[in-house]
Amino acid sequence: MQRRPVCAIEDLPPGTMKLVEAGKFGVGVYNIDGSLYAIANYCAHEGAPLCAGYVSGTTEYAPDEPDKLRHVREGRIVRCPWHNWEFDITTGEAVAKPSKRVRTYEVDVTDGQVYLTA
Ligand code: FES
Repeated sequence: MQRRPVCAIEDLPPGTMKLVEAGKFGVGVYNIDGSLYAIANYCAHEGAPLCAGYVSGTTEYAPDEPDKLRHVREGRIVRCPWHNWEFDITTGEAVAKPSKRVRTYEVDVTDGQVYLTA
């Protein structure tokens, strides 16, 4: 593991991602509503470049109305470009099967600079 600079925090505004050359496949550093998260650019299914996936939310059944789907976790879900598995960027867990996950990494900000430890 190595702590490495990513970019200035103003260059990673909410809703954006920077792909960092780290490890074998790269690491995506995401700003979600002002909080930073990092996941491996490697899908837990068959190894697709996960960070090329579209970021949105997902759907789930409302606990109080089990016949109704609702849109949740907007901006936290990355959808794999190969077979559409969804992963929660904040935890690395697959939405449909939380025991499947992608690796997550530590991100911090010091003096306006974003750092990734990977
Ligand atoms: S490789 Fe990502 S869903 Fe299949």
